[in-house]
Amino acid sequence: MAEFFLPANSKPKNTGKVHKAAAEAKRVKKFKIYRYDPDAGQNPHYDTFEIDLDTCGPMVLDALIKMKSEQDSTLTFRRSCREGICGSCAMNMDGKNGLACTTAIEDIRGDIRITPLPHMEVIKDLVPDFTHFYAQYSSIKPWLQTVTPNPGKERLQSPEDREKLDGLYECILCACCSTSCPSYWWNSDKFLGPAILLQAYRWLADSRDEMTGERLDELEDPFRLYRCHTIMNCANVCPKGLNPAKAIAEIKKMEAERVL
Ligand code: SF4
Ligand code: SF4
Ligand code: FES
Repeated sequence: MAEFFLPANSKPKNTGKVHKAAAEAKRVKKFKIYRYDPDAGQNPHYDTFEIDLDTCGPMVLDALIKMKSEQDSTLTFRRSCREGICGSCAMNMDGKNGLACTTAIEDIRGDIRITPLPHMEVIKDLVPDFTHFYAQYSSIKPWLQTVTPNPGKERLQSPEDREKLDGLYECILCACCSTSCPSYWWNSDKFLGPAILLQAYRWLADSRDEMTGERLDELEDPFRLYRCHTIMNCANVCPKGLNPAKAIAEIKKMEAERVL
């Protein structure tokens, strides 16, 4: 269950370093970046980085890479693909979760405050600990499960059945949705959260999967599934335009229909 108080030494202080832009820079944007080093034994703080937009790419991730290459090489964040595919650059920018590589600097007015995804343990700076999230993902057995004999070649699916996976298979497991869900903040020890439930529905909706009953049994639990209260934050933040709340509603419908 959630803790309703902050752990000791977790409150960020506003007393970090200021990394100035070059004196000749004309279009300067300030970024306030959450910094936390568990080995330092101190509270987190915000460092300010001034970025010359005339020598920086257009995305928030471009600015972070510039900060790390030119101003402070200890700045720590995850990134890989730079095109919204890997999900590793998920973070909170100006109060909203998103992918740094697909968020344009010019779309955020004023100074940009960047923090790690909310309500996850922080490993360092902008890097959250995904251990629990991945354990929850593993718990839904995210692979095709069958009982009928292996046909010896691929298991076929009609175009109509394949279409039922649209809006589900595109999930990149960035956790932007789960970490913006109040129910997940409060009950993430038991509630699977929108990302994992969308993935669970992806397998329930797959015509080739033969473990539908077992999957529904696993999900039928007051916490794992039913802590979703349709607050819809998840659908509002998904950088891939997916709707986890709708997937959760579909699972609840399947649970209800099999009782009837
Ligand atoms: S709709 Fe459900 S899963 Fe999505 S944010 Fe709200 S409570 Fe969380
Ligand atoms: S549903 Fe969207 S926000 Fe949630 S993990 Fe998948 S891609 Fe990320
Ligand atoms: S770097 Fe891969 S999604 Fe942003």
